[in-house]
Amino acid sequence: MGNSAFRLVLILVLITVSACDKKASISAVATAPTEVRGPAINFVDTQEAKPLVIDEKLFDTPAAKEFLATGKNIYINNADAIAKGKKIFGLYSCTQCHGPEAKGQTGPGLVGPTFRYPKDATNKGMFETIWHGTNGGMGAKGIGLMDLTDPKNGITPDEVLKVQAWVRSMGTGLTGNE
Ligand code: HEC
Repeated sequence: MGNSAFRLVLILVLITVSACDKKASISAVATAPTEVRGPAINFVDTQEAKPLVIDEKLFDTPAAKEFLATGKNIYINNADAIAKGKKIFGLYSCTQCHGPEAKGQTGPGLVGPTFRYPKDATNKGMFETIWHGTNGGMGAKGIGLMDLTDPKNGITPDEVLKVQAWVRSMGTGLTGNE
């Protein structure tokens, strides 16, 4: 290969590489908005109001992502979510302590308008109580010995939001998104 032919090949290779680079950076920009998303709300536990870190990856549905960003539960008043929430409430044995109508049994009623933990009038507050448990008789995720570090253990954020939709629907008009 002559010297000038070699240069031509080199230039062509460089052009191709830089074109690929551009393509890669364009697609990185295009996907950025869904990836760059930080939690806008800060969870705290119900026991001591200490920061409660919940793995962002567990918020894996549109409703859960919306909740993480705004603290609002978009399943409230959604008939499908309410029906699923009722089932989930039974599945995780919430029923055993809070009753089949969530109006209380061994555990307190959950439908309001007043709550043992006043912050449970908001969906963010009730979420924190369900996720991390309380001082007085309810463990994390409603179960005594739940290992919170295992994300596959027990109720998921999306399921908590559906349970809330059902619980709120049993009450007297409080949505928790007020
Ligand atoms: C072993 C019994 C038991 C189970 C199972 C249980 N809870 Fe509870 N729950 C309690 C008790 C007792 C309290 C009151 C705790 C306190 O006073 O600190 C409570 C409190 C709560 C509160 C706060 C109520 C308020 O007035 O502020 C919510 C919300 C709640 N539970 C939701 C749930 C959900 C959802 C589930 C299922 C995932 C569940 N619980 C499972 C016993 C239970």
